[in-house]
Amino acid sequence: MSTRLTEMPAWTALTSHYRMMKDTLLADLFAGDDRRGERLNAEGAGLYLDYSKNRVTDETLKLLLALAHETGVEVKRDAMFAGQRINVTENRAVLHTALRQPRGATVMVDGQNVVPDVHEVLDRMAKFADALRAGQWAGFTGKPIKNIVNIGIGGSDLGPVMAYEALKHYAQRDLTVRFVSNVDGTDLVEKTRDLDPAETLFIVSSKTFTTQETMANASSARAWLLAALNDEAAVARHFVAVSTNADAVQKFGIDTANMFGFWDWVGGRYSMDSAIGLSLMLAIGPDGFTELLAGFHEMDEHFRTAPLEKNLPVLMGMLGVWYNNFFDAQSHAVLPYDQYLQFFPAYLQQLDMESNGKHITLDGQAVDYQTGQVIWGQPGTNGQHAFYQLIHQGTKLIPCDFIGFCQTLNPLPTPDGPPHHDLLMANVFAQTEALAFGKSLDAVLAEGVDPALAPHRVFDGNRPTNTLLADRLTPRTLGALIALYEHKVFVQGAVWNINSFDQWGVELGKVLAGKIVPELKAGAEPQLAHDSSTNTLIRRYRDRR
Ligand code: F6P
Repeated sequence: MSTRLTEMPAWTALTSHYRMMKDTLLADLFAGDDRRGERLNAEGAGLYLDYSKNRVTDETLKLLLALAHETGVEVKRDAMFAGQRINVTENRAVLHTALRQPRGATVMVDGQNVVPDVHEVLDRMAKFADALRAGQWAGFTGKPIKNIVNIGIGGSDLGPVMAYEALKHYAQRDLTVRFVSNVDGTDLVEKTRDLDPAETLFIVSSKTFTTQETMANASSARAWLLAALNDEAAVARHFVAVSTNADAVQKFGIDTANMFGFWDWVGGRYSMDSAIGLSLMLAIGPDGFTELLAGFHEMDEHFRTAPLEKNLPVLMGMLGVWYNNFFDAQSHAVLPYDQYLQFFPAYLQQLDMESNGKHITLDGQAVDYQTGQVIWGQPGTNGQHAFYQLIHQGTKLIPCDFIGFCQTLNPLPTPDGPPHHDLLMANVFAQTEALAFGKSLDAVLAEGVDPALAPHRVFDGNRPTNTLLADRLTPRTLGALIALYEHKVFVQGAVWNINSFDQWGVELGKVLAGKIVPELKAGAEPQLAHDSSTNTLIRRYRDRR
């Protein structure tokens, strides 16, 4: 991008437009257009987005889409889909979209079509999954595998654990599936304490196969297994690997015949639909996994082809830019009204914050505008009884995404009232209505509230929300939903002119931790010239451990 973002025509137009819009009330926008809710929505890949409860007019939308265009969102999108090396700091293509291309499609990387390779791995995963699910992949003692423990962290954990929880309804329930990520030994100990090693399979998932946490957990898991089975040969029946690093997998002692690969053009946080999803495939079966990929692909196609004004990731991305860069909103809440999506906000934290938590542009300059927001959330209705107070009546502007489903997977009537699902969904509609329109002082006083107490009961409203509705939580819907957020993150990174696909920011801490580990041994003195705070903390820990 040669012109600085803040000097672009659409940006400067938005800056003046913001001055007109900053005090505009959603209530007035709705009063001025009784079809607003019917107009300001878009649909794609089975997802319906109502964005009418945002502080935007048609002019705002026109300017935001002009900004998307001026910053080259479409050109950058096409470059990504075409396999160009848009991850410039690592000189890599960014092709998670190739992972969900149907058999027979063509995506070229360095002169080679990668789609057949993708399907070769998927086929091997499916064969393995079918055997294991049928009880035909026996452990070392001949007992069938009943427990699966995925060991991985970051993108090698958050996607699989989120999707496993999200799709539990479709899972083979006689398999126990667990996820160990934290280097804190408690994680491994608690997740294995009631498992029979003879019936347990570990999937060591690590793109690099060098990540400290995963390697430590994998070694300890092997020791746990060998303590019970007493034979190195058992490892081959109880460990498989998912990685791009065959040498390291072999060194660890896992037969590369039991390794499922992927490629450097798949970023960690974009990898849950690669072999990193093996634990999920074992749980929901190859057909369910194929459906998930179909949902991803449907959203990819929507993102690639829908006009900007009907394009869900573009609309959500640009609305986020509007609040982040013009209203100075610091955070964005994602509030799924479905218990199965309990880990979706945590998954999005890595997807969004590791991607767009950057302050250097693609041209190597420091930005003079805000980039990635703090992403947070929790399933409704639980969040309502925890932090919604601040969203409704606090001093911060927190745009929110509400996510709901028209049909529940667990229809549960209440003995003497409406079904659970109606109660749940009534809260979605009520919350977005309350956030948008609030409650005036007059309305409070009309209820006969003591005037001295009335201000406490006033809701200013004007809090913006998106509502995403889908018919039902299925593997396909989940795929579309994840791809929607992947591409939303892409759109914002494109506008901010940053590289959404590297993560140098996690390196420094990793390197320093590696150097400090030997200093924690008894008798050792801190080797490095740490600051006096770090040295004192290390000594105190060593003295009292
Ligand atoms: O958090 C940094 C990171 O590199 C993530 O991007 C990645 O998902 C995670 O570590 C795990 O890496 P690996 O799959 O190589 O173990």
